[in-house]
Amino acid sequence: MHKLVTIIGARPQIIKAAAISRAIKNHFKTDIEEIIVHTGQHYDVNMSEVFFGELDIPEPDINLNVGSASHGLQTARMIEGIESVLMEHKPDGIILYGDTNSTLAGAVAAAKIHVPVIHVEAGLRSFNKSMPEEINRITCDHASTLLFSPTKTGYNNLIKEGFNPGNKPPYTIDNPGIFHCGDVMYDNSFHFAAVADQKSGILKKLELQPGSYILSTIHRNNNTDDPERLQAIFRALDKIAVKHHLKVILPLHPRTRKMLDSNLNRELLNEVKKNPLLVIIPPVSFLDMIVLEKDAMMIATDSGGVQKEAYFFKKPCLILRPETEWKEIVEQGAGIVTDAHEINIIEAYEHFAGQEELAFPQIFGNGNAASFICETLMNEI
Ligand code: UD1
Ligand code: UDP
Repeated sequence: MHKLVTIIGARPQIIKAAAISRAIKNHFKTDIEEIIVHTGQHYDVNMSEVFFGELDIPEPDINLNVGSASHGLQTARMIEGIESVLMEHKPDGIILYGDTNSTLAGAVAAAKIHVPVIHVEAGLRSFNKSMPEEINRITCDHASTLLFSPTKTGYNNLIKEGFNPGNKPPYTIDNPGIFHCGDVMYDNSFHFAAVADQKSGILKKLELQPGSYILSTIHRNNNTDDPERLQAIFRALDKIAVKHHLKVILPLHPRTRKMLDSNLNRELLNEVKKNPLLVIIPPVSFLDMIVLEKDAMMIATDSGGVQKEAYFFKKPCLILRPETEWKEIVEQGAGIVTDAHEINIIEAYEHFAGQEELAFPQIFGNGNAASFICETLMNEI
């Protein structure tokens, strides 16, 4: 039996962990014991609890209840909590997802006491170190023993940073194994798409016709915390909505919701509040989100996960960031990096609205990334 500690904390990690937990439950129940530790980085019901029931993830065995704080304080509290879990349970490895402070804390805590780190979503790079996520993912990758990259680009980034694809088992932190295996998020979208159609009532609730609206999410700190950038995004969405008489559905992250009042000027804030075409709602469940994505005409987002899901569901994507780690999406012509630039956002909308057919070749694997990861770590840890 392989004993593994899984760290989750932020919304996208709970969703990604669902794919591995499902693979363990369906195929590796007698081989892998998973201890799930929630750091408590996200704690609102609609940022955390809502996902466990609907994605059929086991409840966390341990919740560190760390909550929100500055980067240093939040990460330090997590390191302390994770270290003591690892010392108590003595697992064979720790599974970490993505690039949040929960990922970083897991990597630092585990590597220092020689617990092998398994990094799912390794190798992604924005090449913009002002992003907290870039620091987190580089640090985690370089403290890892097994690195699973969802894309060819991610895998190649690791090689450029000195990881040797020729390393042979036994893998260690000094002789790490790197794998290109597809994206566990693709596994999930694939798995839950049919269920979502049956279970979600979100279109009816919001009185939406399929194909008649833009879906938008905004939460990146450089957008929420910078009045100029936040205003440019909202001005662009408002103008597109009014000119084309289109609804824009905005399930807003609590961080963004809190910043609207302080970072939009009075005139824009009034317009955003009174324009019935801008529909600001609380974060939605994953099944509701999938339905909103599948039936949108276009998606505008600064989220990493939502960019990919736009691609999975064959929707053009306006990427509200200065760059993206998912550069295949842009290379395929299915996404445009608009940054938080009003004119760029409007022009990118018009580009896609006038475009008939886009191609979405399969670049995120075949829906079996989680099984590949489980199989590999059973053999190599
Ligand atoms: C974090 C990740 C980011 C990821 C995002 C997913 C880091 C550095 N950032 O950003 O990479 O894309 O999660 O959603 O780890 N808040 C609530 N309720 C909650 C959680 C947060 O109100 O349940 C508010 C608090 O005001 C908090 C703020 O959101 O201060 C930011 O939360 P935090 O977890 O620090 O970062 P995110 O912006 O969520
Ligand atoms: N998501 C969700 N409800 C929402 C917004 C997002 O379920 O209201 C899901 C989305 O489908 C994707 C994940 O959350 O699977 C992306 O997380 P987020 O945008 O918070 O973080 P990022 O991917 O940028 O790290």
